[in-house]
Amino acid sequence: MNTETPFEIFLVATPGLEQVLCQEARTLGFLQARQVPGGVSFDGTWPDVWRANLLLRGATRVLARIGSFRAFHLAQLDKRARKFPWGETLLSDVPVKVEVVTNKKSKIYHAGAATERIERAITEELGAPISPDAEVTVKVRIDDNTCIFSVDTSGEGLHKRGHKVAVGKAPMRETLAALMLGACGYQGQEPVLDPMCGSGTFVIEAAEMARGLAAGRSRTFAFQSLATFDAGGWEAVRSAVAPPRDVPLVFYGSDRNAGVIEMGRQNADRAGVSEICQFTHAAVSDLQRPDGPVGLVIVNPPYGARIGNKKQLFAVYGALGETLRSRFSGWRVGIVTSDTQLARATALPFLPLGAPIAHGGLKVRLFQTGPLP
Ligand SMILES: C[S@@+](CC[C@H](N)C(=O)[O-])C[C@H]1O[C@@H](n2cnc3c(N)ncnc32)[C@H](O)[C@@H]1O
Repeated sequence: MNTETPFEIFLVATPGLEQVLCQEARTLGFLQARQVPGGVSFDGTWPDVWRANLLLRGATRVLARIGSFRAFHLAQLDKRARKFPWGETLLSDVPVKVEVVTNKKSKIYHAGAATERIERAITEELGAPISPDAEVTVKVRIDDNTCIFSVDTSGEGLHKRGHKVAVGKAPMRETLAALMLGACGYQGQEPVLDPMCGSGTFVIEAAEMARGLAAGRSRTFAFQSLATFDAGGWEAVRSAVAPPRDVPLVFYGSDRNAGVIEMGRQNADRAGVSEICQFTHAAVSDLQRPDGPVGLVIVNPPYGARIGNKKQLFAVYGALGETLRSRFSGWRVGIVTSDTQLARATALPFLPLGAPIAHGGLKVRLFQTGPLP
């Protein structure tokens, strides 16, 4: 496979937010991007893979399809895996791990046995060591007796931007925060305020988007350890990113926990957006409306607590709703929570509800309003 030949690129999405990721991919110029279950797919080349990893804020990871073949039994899988052109993608001195998923539509259904055959083919034919800690993962889907091979080009999940070191108790993943901002129609042109900001994920993500910073500017990726990598081409992709914009906006975070506010400040500093972020130690009932243009309030209040705490949570959501209804006329609101009753306790005028979204073993939903009266 050379860097010029197009192949399928698959962007893994948070389930329930595929459409938002598809929109982001198209906005970044991946015009053929189409929504499929679990993600977004389009055809592209290796420089597109590098660009997708560098720029996309909502993708969980970026997979590159490297080939497929039919296999009806393990001996056939073994033989064909040994003939597979691994050296076009993998390097013989870079450790690899293999992950296989099977389904009932295939005669090969034992993922462990299939993994073992493919790992053996890679080590014995290419020479690459197999390691459970490898940064490079070959993902194999055996569907309808076809083995489909992809390589995970991201390595560490793309929510790891490389800035957030300090986190509170229940931090939101940056990728999910970006998709939620996108689902609220945020395009980097209005202020954003999170009144329960924890370590500042929404605030920092929104500020980075406003400045036009590349999501992956501070980290490395697994594609840098593949045979298809070209340092000059990668440098060209990085240098094509427009310089950061000056932004006449402020991004506000507050929380009743002073410790997490300090973490938010440090994280914003590391991300290079501290001059446009303002973190304040305040309970939601003491929150004041900022001067300046209206924008988006986005918040991920506590939820999923033990039953004994539910009463307290109703009071917290009630106070949030009261503050927003009385002081934030003209602002839009997005609340991320798993609990519809708690969301309703805000007494905010919600728009029709979107699909459930998988988040940390729970299903959450985004409760949105239009501009508040
Ligand atoms: C689920 S966490 C938010 C996590 C955040 N999105 C992040 O990425 O780090 C909920 C936050 O709400 C804050 N909180 C709870 N009750 C509050 C209140 N009455 N006023 C302000 N903050 C509150 C907690 O201190 C906690 O940081």
